[in-house]
Amino acid sequence: MNHGLESWFKTDSDIPVIFALLIAQQTMNEPKRYLITAALPYVNGLKHIGHLAGAYLPADIYVRYLRARKRDVVFICGSDEHGAAITMQALKEGTTPRAIIDKYHAIIKQNFADLGISFDIYHRTSEPIHYETAQEFFTSLYNRGELEEKENEQYYDEQAGIFLADRYIIGTCPVCGNENAYGDQCERCGSSLSPEQLINPRSTLTGKTPVKKMTKHWYLPLNKYEDWLRNWIEQEHATDWKSNVAGQCKSWLDNGLQPRAVTRDVDWGVPVPLEEAKGKVLYVWFDAPIGYISATRQWALDHGKEWEPYWQDKDTKLVHFIGKDNIVFHCIIFPVMLHLHGNILPDNVPANEFMNLEGDKMSTSRGWSIEMEDYINDWIKPENGGESMADMLRYYLTTILPETKDSEFTWKGFQTANTSELVEIFGNFVNRSFVLLHKLCGGKVPVLHSELLDEADQGMLTQFKISADKVADLLEIYKFRDALSEVIDLARKGNRYMQEKQPWITARSINENAQAQKLIDNCLHICLQLTANLAILVNPFLPYTARKMCHMMKVVDKMLEWENAGKSKLLSVGYSLREPKLLFRKIEDAEIAVQLDKLKAAAAKALESKKQTEKVNRQVMQEEIKEQAAQKPMIQYDDFAKIELKVGTIVTAEKVEKADKLLKLEVDLGTEKRTIVSGIALDFKPEDIQGKQVVVVTNLAPRKMRGIESNGMILMAENGDGKLVFINPDGRADEGAEVR
Ligand code: MF3
Ligand code: ZN
Repeated sequence: MNHGLESWFKTDSDIPVIFALLIAQQTMNEPKRYLITAALPYVNGLKHIGHLAGAYLPADIYVRYLRARKRDVVFICGSDEHGAAITMQALKEGTTPRAIIDKYHAIIKQNFADLGISFDIYHRTSEPIHYETAQEFFTSLYNRGELEEKENEQYYDEQAGIFLADRYIIGTCPVCGNENAYGDQCERCGSSLSPEQLINPRSTLTGKTPVKKMTKHWYLPLNKYEDWLRNWIEQEHATDWKSNVAGQCKSWLDNGLQPRAVTRDVDWGVPVPLEEAKGKVLYVWFDAPIGYISATRQWALDHGKEWEPYWQDKDTKLVHFIGKDNIVFHCIIFPVMLHLHGNILPDNVPANEFMNLEGDKMSTSRGWSIEMEDYINDWIKPENGGESMADMLRYYLTTILPETKDSEFTWKGFQTANTSELVEIFGNFVNRSFVLLHKLCGGKVPVLHSELLDEADQGMLTQFKISADKVADLLEIYKFRDALSEVIDLARKGNRYMQEKQPWITARSINENAQAQKLIDNCLHICLQLTANLAILVNPFLPYTARKMCHMMKVVDKMLEWENAGKSKLLSVGYSLREPKLLFRKIEDAEIAVQLDKLKAAAAKALESKKQTEKVNRQVMQEEIKEQAAQKPMIQYDDFAKIELKVGTIVTAEKVEKADKLLKLEVDLGTEKRTIVSGIALDFKPEDIQGKQVVVVTNLAPRKMRGIESNGMILMAENGDGKLVFINPDGRADEGAEVR
């Protein structure tokens, strides 16, 4: 009895000596271990398929390939949980940064898993082990005198009471004139900026023009390492880095590097481990990449391994997968940090360009995007094709990866690629092979009659190895699109071969022609060995499909190991295979139409809500100005007596949707509870003011704000710096007590 499961363990004896030598040599140059990272996403919201295509999918393909080659590899990712991206989202959602990161970390982690992104660890930069690692890193550079200390004036928002850096400050870009450039970067022209360069700077919190105030920070003197960087990149990576990456690095170096502050005056982040830096935190771009190290430490702890070799041993190949907006951080800043700290440097940073969507830039805030979460909810349902729908997304995205220039996702393209390539070429070949096997060969892998092999058969058999080597070579140099297209091409060759052989025609002459069955056997033997090869080659790209194919062939996943790629005896003669199941399904026009409508609706909704927010903010600001401008004339007692003032207690407070400045309050006045809308959201968090007592103007005519009727007004004092404060009674007063 023959077992398919065993035969492919025994087939390498026929490798020619010369090949064996070549392989041995390759193995000698091979790194001892691989450390693969994918950019830690900010968890300030859902992540879209452009992010997926930028870093996570190519990284996953590469890692799955390395694992199939049985190389020692660790695949690192996790949530980037600090920085203005997070705190500003918290402000927007009327909640705390902690609530934001907990919410989105969980969703994004699950999204990646559902799409088959196979991280060895998906960590978080809010974990204690990360704080420890990042602080140790800072301290070590500090103790070696590698950081410069500078006191200088920085922009400060007097009303909000905070220093403005990065996304907290906007203004006109000095390079392209974009009026909404951020303090760290202009999103229109891509220039990297510092707040001082902005023309007409404004605070994003209050819209006010900031003042300058002294503060002390620690800087990484990048300028000292220009030559070192240039040497490293030009001498060691002139040929193996992608030209878009090398080009960006060159332009940074040609423009000259400046010392870069690695600390910030905000309260969300890893505290700077220095006595004199109380209240300051590490700059998010200092702590985040160190997140790769802390994640590796956690992974090692979890698996009883050592983490140090991965970051210290020159035999480690470190590869960072990122999108193009992260190039400077991974090719200039982090390498300098690693160098100063005595770590290894990245061997490659195969950054991708951007993926657009239906003719426009992908953007979650503008509603013009496809969130991973949405794709999963809409497509990956059992009744809808289940996991194979994850592979269909992976497939289309891989065929349009923005490897050398921006690319474009269209729903029509998604439909076409899946139908004309996955369904009609790959799926069709596998399905026909299985159907014919059951029809013409009793469902058992037929014998190969070598005396009858013709040129076409021989050609097909040698093609396995040729294709496998090509795919491997392309994967080694991060050409994922080309690699996948080789795999499809092999399936296409399979279809052509079958079409040429037409075993179903041969079957008609089975009674007259003594050789007919043998010819059919040969064809299907070859088609099935080809199917086994296709499973191995497609596995890094479409892991669910590869497993489905293994199930149909009744072989264990171990067959997918790359050493089996190119072999022609993977399935044993006489081994019976399962009935075929379709690997992929067609995407209907109606499904595409639904997605396009959904996209347009989301974009319209986002635009409407943006307009609303702007309108409300403008109204609130105008009212403020009006109030301030009113010079108050002398009044008589009778005028004052018209105003009814009472003590109230704030029972509940919540943010008003789409109005950055408004809180909706329930105020207890003893005999009644009132709803009051108040413009204090920039100064107070809802959860901080519950239970506080305030003076309420109770006979003010009701007024509608954002559709909510406000019945009264609460009184507060405004300090010189524009900050609002409660005027606390000396001890609690009764609710409803009149103020006179
Ligand atoms: N959070 C960043 C972004 O989404 C990427 C951080 S990558 C890391 O653009 F290296 F800092 F981790
Ligand atoms: Zn610009």
